[in-house]
Amino acid sequence: MGLSLDAKDLRRALGQFPTGVTVITTLGAQSEPVGVTVSSFNTVSLEPPLILWSMAKSGYSAKVFENAEYFAVNVLGEQQVELSDSFARQSADKFDGVTFTSGVGGSPLLENTAASFECKTWKLYDGGDHTIVVGEVLAFQANDSVMPLVFSRGNYVT
Ligand SMILES: Cc1cc2nc3c(=O)[nH]c(=O)nc-3n(C[C@H](O)[C@H](O)[C@H](O)COP(=O)(O)O)c2cc1C
Repeated sequence: MGLSLDAKDLRRALGQFPTGVTVITTLGAQSEPVGVTVSSFNTVSLEPPLILWSMAKSGYSAKVFENAEYFAVNVLGEQQVELSDSFARQSADKFDGVTFTSGVGGSPLLENTAASFECKTWKLYDGGDHTIVVGEVLAFQANDSVMPLVFSRGNYVT
């Protein structure tokens, strides 16, 4: 951290920028489903269709995503706070009781989400203590009847 920046103040200032909440999923080396709650998802390009998210290098699942050829972005709906919380914890059984189908490359697609994007990893960039993952969108779905979950100031907006 730079000399004059206070980490807590920076976090609070960044929290003034509301985001959606996603669960990013892929398959691990043993074809086991892997998923992480992520709010750093954003759009990059329409032609070609590219999106990005940033992944803490220290995260338990980070190695899996670094090696993943495909991943899926599940945009959570406002009724899915529990899913967001459970995928934000390090645990081997995040998928217990969670219904999903398989997208491109087998990446889990969760039920009743606001939207989903099935991606091929395009490039990884160094981003300090995070890795910036850029994905090419190969397929997507939007569910207009589901309102997206919003995260702001360290809390869900419900
Ligand atoms: C609302 C919310 C947003 C989050 N956004 C990110 C993010 O953008 N990138 C990230 O690496 N972790 C993010 N996290 C933290 C991860 O979900 C958390 O570290 C999780 O334990 C990672 O899974 P793992 O332990 O299996 O690696 C977020 C957590 C919450 C609750």
